Amino acid sequence: MAAAAERFVSVALRAIRESGRFAVALAGGSTPRRLYELLASPDWADRVDWARTNVFWGDERCVPPDDPASNYFLAREVLLDRVPIPEANIDRICGEDPPARAAAAYERELRVAFTTPEGPPSVLPGRRFDLVLLGMGSNGHTASLFPGLSAVRERERWVVAEHVAEVAMWRITLTPPVLNAAAHIVFLVSGAEKAATLERVLEGPPGVFPAQAIVPHDGVLTWLVEEAAAGKLCGPRR
Ligand code: 6PG
Repeated sequence: MAAAAERFVSVALRAIRESGRFAVALAGGSTPRRLYELLASPDWADRVDWARTNVFWGDERCVPPDDPASNYFLAREVLLDRVPIPEANIDRICGEDPPARAAAAYERELRVAFTTPEGPPSVLPGRRFDLVLLGMGSNGHTASLFPGLSAVRERERWVVAEHVAEVAMWRITLTPPVLNAAAHIVFLVSGAEKAATLERVLEGPPGVFPAQAIVPHDGVLTWLVEEAAAGKLCGPRR
């Protein structure tokens, strides 16, 4: 996770230098927990200018913010309550609200944050995510873009709500248009159970898995993969 923390710090420094702010979308699930704990630790916490950092989420489960299943709850507990980030800089998805209303509200907030009241996202500095953190499930989903569902095919809206039978819950997720406008996208993947899917995502035909829909228009895509999940990948990769 040190590589992920280094990337977080370096992207933050450059974004703040270039546009005065670092806009980051945090990932949910369990893998990023160790990154968040690292960023909150004494060796790392003061390497980020939290006063100029704006935190968003790539997706959220439709549960209250104090529910342990909430992606906000995870980040709050292990990172945001431990660093000097102003409350006003934390923009969570309201999982406790009716899903479609929460999705529309979050899109409005993103459009204000990126001064893009309508139309497609911009790729100009300061008007897009500087960093998006993503995980990947063993079925190739990312954020809450799940195989076979409509969110992964969304091309207009930036945030949508969808009931995901596979996890028996409503989810709210950012969509490929706004994710792919980011300057840096970093996948954090761990777990041997993902190795077969990861090999197909990276080396198989495109258009099969939602994770393959993540292709930055004008940005850098990085996969940080722990050894067990990299088991089936061939040789060193750039
Ligand atoms: C979520 C995440 C989801 C996650 C993957 C991987 O809300 O669950 O956004 O996309 O990143 O399911 O989760 P793990 O890191 O727990 O394997």
